[in-house]
Amino acid sequence: MKTIGFIGVGELALYTIRGVRRGGYHDSILLSPRNRARSALLAADFNCTVLADNQAVVDRSDCVVIATRPADCLQTLAELEFRTNQLLISVVAGVEIEALRSSVPDSLDIVRAMPVSSAEAGASPTLIYPDNAFVREFFDYCGNTIPVDSEAYFTQGSVLACVYCWFFSLFESLIQATQGPELPGELSAELVMGMARGAAELALAKTDSSPGEIAAAIATDGTYSKLGLDLLQQQTAFVPWQQACELLQKRLAADD
Ligand SMILES: NC(=O)c1ccc[n+]([C@@H]2O[C@H](COP(=O)([O-])OP(=O)(O)OC[C@H]3O[C@@H](n4cnc5c(N)ncnc54)[C@H](OP(=O)(O)O)[C@@H]3O)[C@@H](O)[C@H]2O)c1
Repeated sequence: MKTIGFIGVGELALYTIRGVRRGGYHDSILLSPRNRARSALLAADFNCTVLADNQAVVDRSDCVVIATRPADCLQTLAELEFRTNQLLISVVAGVEIEALRSSVPDSLDIVRAMPVSSAEAGASPTLIYPDNAFVREFFDYCGNTIPVDSEAYFTQGSVLACVYCWFFSLFESLIQATQGPELPGELSAELVMGMARGAAELALAKTDSSPGEIAAAIATDGTYSKLGLDLLQQQTAFVPWQQACELLQKRLAADD
C-alpha cells in the first residue's frame, strides 16, 4: 500500500484522480493546497486529503506526482526536499528525465506518464517510461497503461496524446455534417462516437490487419464507403493530420 501525493492540482490531477477512484483505487491520495477549489472538490467527493503545503505532501507520500504546467515544474521540484527511496511520477509534457534529475536527488526513481482526460471515463491509454510496477498498476485503474522502454518512444507517443484531442474536433465536425431534420443531434452524436469506438475496438482486435487494410476491405468498388473515402483522399484530407503530427514532433524535439 502506497500513499500518492499530487503537487499541482489542475485539470490533469482532477481527471486522473476521478478516474482512479471510480476504477477502485482506495489508497491515500494527498493534494497540494494551491488550487483550493479543485482540491476541496477532490477531498469532498473523491476521498483525498489536502495538506498545508507542497513539502507536507512530499513528506507524507511514497510516490509524488508532479502535475504543474511545464514552466513551473523544475522550480517547484527544486524547492522540495525528498527522502531516499521515493518515487517521482512526472506527467509534465516536454520535460525529459535528465532535466527532472537536475532538480531532485539522484536516489529518486523517476517515471514519466501521459494520462489523457479519458482517464475520467476509465479509458486512458497511458504511456509510461520507464516501466514501473506501481505506476503501471496505478494508471490501470483509469484505463490501460502502455510502458515503453525508450524515452524517444515516449516523446513520439506523446504526439498521440494531442491527436486524442483532435479526435473530438473531428467528431464535432461529423456530428454537424450529419445532424438535421433526418437525424436528431443526439442520435448523430451517439452514432459518431459509437462508430469511432467500434472502429478502434476492431482495429485493436484484428492484430493480423492494419487499419488501412481494414478500410480497404470495407471500401470495395461500388460501395458508399469507397465513394466517400475516394473523395477524402482526392482532397488530401489526411495530409494535414500528418503535417500536424510532424509539427508536434519537431516542437517536442526542440523542447527536449
Ligand atoms: N490537461 C491535459 O489534458 C494534459 C494531458 C497530458 C499532460 N498534461 C501535463 O500535465 C501538467 C498539468 O496540466 P494541467 O492541464 O493539469 O494544468 P493546470 O490545469 O494549469 O494545472 C496546473 C496546476 O499546477 C498549479 N501549480 C503551479 N505551480 C505550483 C506549485 N509550485 N505548487 C503547487 N501547485 C502549483 C497551478 O496553480 P496556478 O493555476 O495557481 O498557477 C495549477 O493549479 C502539464 O505539465 C501538462 O503538460 C496535461
